[in-house]
Amino acid sequence: MSMKNTTKQKPETNLNINSASTLDLIAEQWYPICLSASLKNKPQSLRRLGQDLVLWRDESGAACCAPAACPHRGADLGMGRIENGELQCKYHGFCFDRNGRCTKTPCEGSRAEIPNSLDLQMIPVEEKDDFIWFYYGKNKNRPQIPHIKGITGGWRDALTCEFTWDISLSRVMEGMMDLHHLPFAHRPWFPPGWTRLDPYKVRVEDGVIYTRGILRKEEEKGGIKAFMNVGFPSLLHIAMGNGADIDDDTISGFEMLGTCTPIDQHRTWIAVYYRQSYVRIPLFDRLFNLIALQFDLKLIQPDDYRLLKSSSPSSSGSGSSHLVRADRGIAEWHRLQKKALESNCLQNAETEIQKTG
Ligand code: FES
Ligand SMILES: [Fe+2]
Repeated sequence: MSMKNTTKQKPETNLNINSASTLDLIAEQWYPICLSASLKNKPQSLRRLGQDLVLWRDESGAACCAPAACPHRGADLGMGRIENGELQCKYHGFCFDRNGRCTKTPCEGSRAEIPNSLDLQMIPVEEKDDFIWFYYGKNKNRPQIPHIKGITGGWRDALTCEFTWDISLSRVMEGMMDLHHLPFAHRPWFPPGWTRLDPYKVRVEDGVIYTRGILRKEEEKGGIKAFMNVGFPSLLHIAMGNGADIDDDTISGFEMLGTCTPIDQHRTWIAVYYRQSYVRIPLFDRLFNLIALQFDLKLIQPDDYRLLKSSSPSSSGSGSSHLVRADRGIAEWHRLQKKALESNCLQNAETEIQKTG
């Protein structure tokens, strides 16, 4: 579902994008900024990619996005409500339609002429694969939203969890794509001796990194089988279960569709849909899922957080670590990161030359 307006579109707001993007705020990319399941009938304010935004759904259910500060006197519009399909500011009740037009200023009476200066500068967003997506960049000529093959729908009914880590995107993505850390970083919780990641296959297609591997004992064939796929830079699809056949495209076990989106250079918002296929009995499946998710959040993630937080430097780019074969997925992420940063630098330089020339 994309934000399609039937009336005239208001001009887009000028986003605050650094001319030299950092290792972690990679410009000219699509980022998921909200789980579709989390945006219901209340507006939400959120900070993503250094911008304070408000998201809400109009009468048709389409996602709408604008800067969070009310044009009147700056209150956070995420504290407001939806009134007759319009966003109403909590402070003085000014209302805004899906195009950002300010339609009501109650203190001035119903016949008041409302100046355009009170309109919101809308930010286009798209809804795809159960996320609301935001384009961080200035280019009108935008690439496609990344799509990971094999993602099936129906995630809105899955369990969700969201949290923030004060860790850069590059380090968080390294952590998310890492399978061979499991027996060491999460020592008490994984079978001892399952330390070898082999076979391990990586391929990159249309900006998506597909990795699959089996983590096993030295002399055994089977072990923990996992797919870890990344729609560069932020979209994440992980499936994990038991297996011995790397070429079998199915895994029974835990599955997660998520995102790691920068809030700013040093903080990352992590949001996931989470489900499992071990237990399929109604109600019990949800209970099992809930327990598994709590296990992950309470016993696994804190170790990951501490290790990533301890990593130096706090941001990473290609060449900043000495990677091994089992890190190849991470190497591919850094390769795409480098390519995107170089292309942005080139575009910025061309814009500067045009300005001065
Ligand atoms: S600050 Fe929003 S209506 Fe006054
Ligand atoms: Fe981990």
